Amino acid sequence: MDTYNFEDNSFSFKRYPETTNRSLRAWSAADEYLIKKLFEDDPDTGNVHIGIYNDRFGFLSCLLKKFEPTVVTERKSQQRSVIQNLEANRIDLKLIKFMDPLECPVQNFDRVLLNIPKSMDLFELYLHQIHSNLTDNGTVLCGFMTKYFTPQMLNIAETYFENVEQSLALKKSRVLVLKGKKESVNRSLVHRLNYDFGRKTQSVVQQNYGVFSADHIDYATQFLIDNLQVKESENKVLDLACGNGVIAMAVQLQKPEAEIYLTDDSFLAIESAKLNIDGPGVHYFWNDRLDDIPKDSLDLVVTNPPFHFGFETNIEVTIRLFNEAADKLKKTGRFVCVANQHLNYKTHLEKIFKVSVLAQNDKFIVYECGFEGSGP
Ligand SMILES: C[S@@+](CC[C@H](N)C(=O)[O-])C[C@H]1O[C@@H](n2cnc3c(N)ncnc32)[C@H](O)[C@@H]1O
Repeated sequence: MDTYNFEDNSFSFKRYPETTNRSLRAWSAADEYLIKKLFEDDPDTGNVHIGIYNDRFGFLSCLLKKFEPTVVTERKSQQRSVIQNLEANRIDLKLIKFMDPLECPVQNFDRVLLNIPKSMDLFELYLHQIHSNLTDNGTVLCGFMTKYFTPQMLNIAETYFENVEQSLALKKSRVLVLKGKKESVNRSLVHRLNYDFGRKTQSVVQQNYGVFSADHIDYATQFLIDNLQVKESENKVLDLACGNGVIAMAVQLQKPEAEIYLTDDSFLAIESAKLNIDGPGVHYFWNDRLDDIPKDSLDLVVTNPPFHFGFETNIEVTIRLFNEAADKLKKTGRFVCVANQHLNYKTHLEKIFKVSVLAQNDKFIVYECGFEGSGP
């Protein structure tokens, strides 16, 4: 738990998901700079409507509670984190309105505070939504750590705003100040990827900007799909961390009658999967945990699991997902997982499953896992 003093109040913050890495805090210098800039440029902020984007753990939402801000969350884990810290600081949840990044009501934001994400596609998707929700005199403050600067940030900002100014650096962070909305910006923020599932099945896989692997189906995923054979007895299948849902599509092509579950922490991923796979037996869950799925219910879990979280790499979440998947599998169930060769998942998987290698090449490895006394 870290504490932060602001306007004579002491706030405490905890990260969700928790991490054993003690050097990681629940806010950055860019968050502090955003707050400073908001009050510096406009000391008499008064009764403005504030939109907050990409507030990873709830620092901005808590400090700006008196404005009753609208908080846009893309990740379920982020929403949980913001709520956890609002509650820990005894802030009434009714003060905050949560919104998703595809929602289109006119919010009339006067000010927006945005933490620039790692994905420039996601930055653009956020600016696209902000552009249609900002008042004509509104200002957007975009914070980032200087080491993550890329000129694309400016190019994207200039697509949507006439005036784009960059602040001086403060504690290795900067703020872009965007003003003057350009006329309407009409762009489709959906990528269309051609993919050959084999057996003469060409498909177009669609995905919203900001979803994993924007210009091709990920090569590890392709390797997994090439080596995946759904068994006759496997009727309930989970695509864990589904992204655009391409693995679930491959399962459905092999077994159209299968009951297929898709989960992802990313709202945009789940909305993308809905564009690609459908049917009476298909169920989508926007969740960073598997608590929507009953224990001992699945025949097969297939996954290309996450290990990058924005600018951070973290295997703790990956291992938690392995354990949760094991809990949801039947005792006869199978867990199939692809990984880069350099990630040593075997050690972690062996603590849960009996593990064998289904396929490997110089870059990727597909593990096939089951429980003692059954499985592979
Ligand atoms: C390596 S990508 C794979 C995406 C997709 N299956 C594919 O192959 O293209 C990992 C995915 O994990 C998702 N993710 C991250 N944390 C998660 C969590 N706790 N639960 C479920 N999905 C998560 C990310 O949003 C991302 O879509």
